[in-house]
Amino acid sequence: MTMKNILVTGGAGFIGSNFIRMVLTEHPDCFVVNLDKLTYAGNLENLAEFHHHDRYQFVHGDICDSPLAVKFLLDQCQIDTIVNFAAESHVDRSITGPKIFIETNVAGTLNLLEAARDKKVDRFLQVSTDEVYGSLGSEGKFTEQTPLSPNSPYSASKAAADHLVRAFGHTWGLKYNITRCSNNYGPYQFPEKLIPLMIHNALHDKELPVYGDGMQVRDWLYVYDHCTAIWCVLDQAPPGEIYNIGGCNEKANLDVINLILGRVGKPTTLIRHVKDRPGHDRRYAIDAGKIMRQLGWKPSVTFEQGIARTIDWYLSNGKWLANVASGQYQQYYEKMYGNR
Ligand code: NAD
Ligand code: DAU
Repeated sequence: MTMKNILVTGGAGFIGSNFIRMVLTEHPDCFVVNLDKLTYAGNLENLAEFHHHDRYQFVHGDICDSPLAVKFLLDQCQIDTIVNFAAESHVDRSITGPKIFIETNVAGTLNLLEAARDKKVDRFLQVSTDEVYGSLGSEGKFTEQTPLSPNSPYSASKAAADHLVRAFGHTWGLKYNITRCSNNYGPYQFPEKLIPLMIHNALHDKELPVYGDGMQVRDWLYVYDHCTAIWCVLDQAPPGEIYNIGGCNEKANLDVINLILGRVGKPTTLIRHVKDRPGHDRRYAIDAGKIMRQLGWKPSVTFEQGIARTIDWYLSNGKWLANVASGQYQQYYEKMYGNR
């Protein structure tokens, strides 16, 4: 494969930092520029070991800055590939404050697209989500042909961005791909999302807040496997193709929580059912047949292996967890869960 100068946006977040770690470790021909605004979810500690790496550069910036600013960066660093992870990513936050989701996820993506079109980059990869398809009943899976039917302000903003990416391909010939992945878990995930929040609370003997009946189903994918799937798309996919990514690991939330409690040795009496999320999607399940057949991708771990690795990582990275769960996080937790 040819040398790639990759602009990764949102690379200080959960998946972006895991992606940069994989690229710098496994792909010695690649140079990575990480453009990140460092919101509450962005954390340079996630990439501490790479700060002085000779194939890595961090740029503190906002994808909502003018396309000219982004274009300057693309020119200066001779970027040929853009992977757009930057987003507001938490459904609950999109319910309490949707506006920033439109600004970052829609207007920010538009800025990047304008710069990418003008620079004529080799590839623009939009990291999207299975939530753009809406919610499933007890049967069936999302395929790439499933109509978009987003239910939350978060997923609506991601669907809008997907439409814009496709429109730039159709109108100006931008070479793009879109990936739509199911729920990720693994190291460096901010403890506002289900798995790290439950691990954090269990370790501190705090109640575990289960929304509604806890029987909502998510299709879990270990974050490293999401990163290898994105790499397969960058490396092999024809432009204009959309790929679903998932691990065939459908689990009810309560089953995941019980598994965590068992592994950290805490009692199920910590579980507390709380008021449900408004508009809560009941079930997601991904048909990842297209990326498996066409690009030969497959996940490297089972859910049991991945969750064991994940819990062990949080157990041995208590300082990381304590740092991100201090200060503003406490206020967030009180606001979201205090009166629930
Ligand atoms: P995250 O919230 O952990 O990280 C988001 C990153 O984007 C942070 O580093 C943040 O500082 C940065 N960012 C936010 N606004 C920015 C802006 N205006 N300019 C530059 N940087 C900005 O998110 P994540 O869980 O790592 O998700 C990454 C991407 O993957 C998102 O686009 C999300 O929609 C998508 N996705 C996530 C999952 C999942 O399970 N977490 C699954 C499928 C798809
Ligand atoms: O499907 C992909 C999506 O997965 C990504 O696009 C999103 O960025 C990511 O946040 C995630 O969305 P979910 O809403 O599925 O993830 P979350 O971890 O917030 O919740 C998972 C399930 O757990 C969901 O059914 C809600 C429930 N839940 C969550 C939290 C935080 C609880 O019961 N209690 C909680 O405290």
